[in-house]
Amino acid sequence: MSIVEYKGFGGVRLTADLIGGEHDPVILLVPDAGQGREAWRAVAEALVLSGRRVVNLEPRPASGPDWSTDEQVAHVEDLRAVLAQMGSRPVVVAARRGGWIAAQALAPDGAHLAAGLVLVDMPTTDETVAAALRLALPTLVVRGGFSPKECTPASDAFRAALPIGESADIEEADMAFAADRGEALLGQLLEFLERRQPRKATEFQAGSDPRTLRDAMGCFATGVTIVTAHDADGMPVGLTANSFTSVSLDPPLLLVCIANTAGTAPVLRDVVHFGVNVLQIGQQPASNRFATKGEDRFANLPWAPGQTGVPLLDSSLVSFECESESLHEAGDHFILVGRVVRAQFEPHRDPLLYFRGKYRRLHFA
Ligand SMILES: Cc1cc2nc3c(=O)[nH]c(=O)nc-3n(C[C@H](O)[C@H](O)[C@H](O)COP(=O)(O)O)c2cc1C
Repeated sequence: MSIVEYKGFGGVRLTADLIGGEHDPVILLVPDAGQGREAWRAVAEALVLSGRRVVNLEPRPASGPDWSTDEQVAHVEDLRAVLAQMGSRPVVVAARRGGWIAAQALAPDGAHLAAGLVLVDMPTTDETVAAALRLALPTLVVRGGFSPKECTPASDAFRAALPIGESADIEEADMAFAADRGEALLGQLLEFLERRQPRKATEFQAGSDPRTLRDAMGCFATGVTIVTAHDADGMPVGLTANSFTSVSLDPPLLLVCIANTAGTAPVLRDVVHFGVNVLQIGQQPASNRFATKGEDRFANLPWAPGQTGVPLLDSSLVSFECESESLHEAGDHFILVGRVVRAQFEPHRDPLLYFRGKYRRLHFA
C-alpha cells in the first residue's frame, strides 16, 4: 500500500491509500463526510482481492449534520479536483454524505471524470434527488447498505423520483432484508463493477494437453480433506484429498475420488467405514504430511476413533463418519461414495482452502 496526495479545493492537501495492481481498473472510495478512510478499509481490501486498484480517500474534516454551505462546496470541489488529478476515470463508491458529495460533483458533466458511481445510503433530500436525476453515468443506488434504518421513507421518495428501470444507467439495490449486510453490499458492488467496469483478461491459456487441463481444474477452489480408515491390521491410514463433494442429503451421501496408484487405494476399495476430515487453517502441516510418501502420518497427531471406529483427526473443521455405499471406476481414479452416519463440526473455525496448486485462506471472513 502506498499513500498518494491530491491537491483539493483552495490548495488543501488531501491524502489517500493506494492499493492494488497498476493495470487494474480503479475505484475511488469516498467515506461519509466526517468519517475517515478507515471506514472503507475492509471493503478496499476485498476490492483489491477481486482485481481492482483502490484509492481510499481521506476527506477534509466535516462538522455535524448541519454542515455549512461553504463546507459542502469545499467537499464537492475537493472531489472534482481529485478526480481531475487521477490518471484514469474511476468508479466512485461513496457512502452517506459522501454520496451526496459525489452526486453533486458528478451530476452535471461527470461522465468525463468517472466511469460509474455507487451511492450507498445517500441521504435523500430534494437536492440529492435533483442531482442524481442529472447523473449521466452508470449509477447504482444502494439502500440499507450499512443498516436497515437507512431504508427510510425518504429513500422511498428518492426511489420514486429516480427513473430506475426506465434508464439503463441507474439501478437500485435494496439491502433491507440482507442477513449479512457487509457481505451483501460487497456482493452487489462486485457484480456492478464486473458489468460496468469489466476487467480485461490479460491472457488466456487454452489447450487439451494434461498440463493445461490440470491447471484449468486447479481454478476450481476447494477445501481440503484427509480421508481416513483402518487397514486390515487395524492400523490407521489416510490421505489428503480435495476431490470431496457432497452428493445427496436424503440419503446423506458424499464422495471422494481416489487415485488408483495411491497406496491407500486398496484399503479404501474394501473399507466398511471411512472418515472424511475437512481441514481448518491450522491443519496445513497435516495436509502436507498426508500427501507425502514415507511419512509416519499419524505420529504425534491427535486423533481418536469415532463411533464407527474410523480415525477422526482432532480439531478438524468437520469430521464425517461414513459407511461405504458404492464404488465407481473413473479413469485413473475411483469414486468412493459414502453414506454419512455421523458428522461433527466446529462452527468457529476457518477452512483451509486450495486453489491453483496453493493453500489459501478465506478473504472475506
Ligand atoms: C491439496 C491436495 C489434494 C489432493 N487430492 C487428492 C485426491 O482428491 N485424490 C487423490 O487420490 N489424491 C489426492 N492428493 C494426493 C495424495 O494426497 C497423495 O498422492 C498421497 O501421497 C497419497 O497417499 P498414499 O499413496 O499413501 O495413499 C492430493 C494432494 C494434495 C496436496
